[in-house]
Amino acid sequence: MPPELRRHVTVRRHDLRADPPTGAFDLVLSRNVAFTYFAPESQLAVLAKLTGALGRGGALVIGAHERLPEPAPEPEPWPGVRGVFRRVDNGAGQGYACGDSMRLEGSMR
Ligand SMILES: C[S@@+](CC[C@H](N)C(=O)[O-])C[C@H]1O[C@@H](n2cnc3c(N)ncnc32)[C@H](O)[C@@H]1O
Repeated sequence: MPPELRRHVTVRRHDLRADPPTGAFDLVLSRNVAFTYFAPESQLAVLAKLTGALGRGGALVIGAHERLPEPAPEPEPWPGVRGVFRRVDNGAGQGYACGDSMRLEGSMR
């Protein structure tokens, strides 16, 4: 990762089953963890937490071979992009990669 990006990154351990870090995130990356290995009810609980962590227009990106659990009214599919979903009703913010516990501090816009 280039130093100009690295200096905005905070790395922390975080359990997906716990509440996410405070913030309204622009981007949440979740691949090969909750939506592959967790039980359906746990997937729904994690999805609610991750969706709640997104700011308005924020994107949740899942693995190419994953699907969100149902029923999942939010986030909504990003038109024309497989595995990308967006939240349409909230604030704005940062970046949060779960499973790898990476957080980008400051705006990514
Ligand atoms: C199969 S790896 C995927 C890693 C990475 N996301 C990727 O796609 O290459 C699963 C990762 O999920 C992490 N993990 C397992 N349970 C977790 C939990 N409850 N909260 C956060 N991370 C978890 C593991 O430590 C491991 O790093």
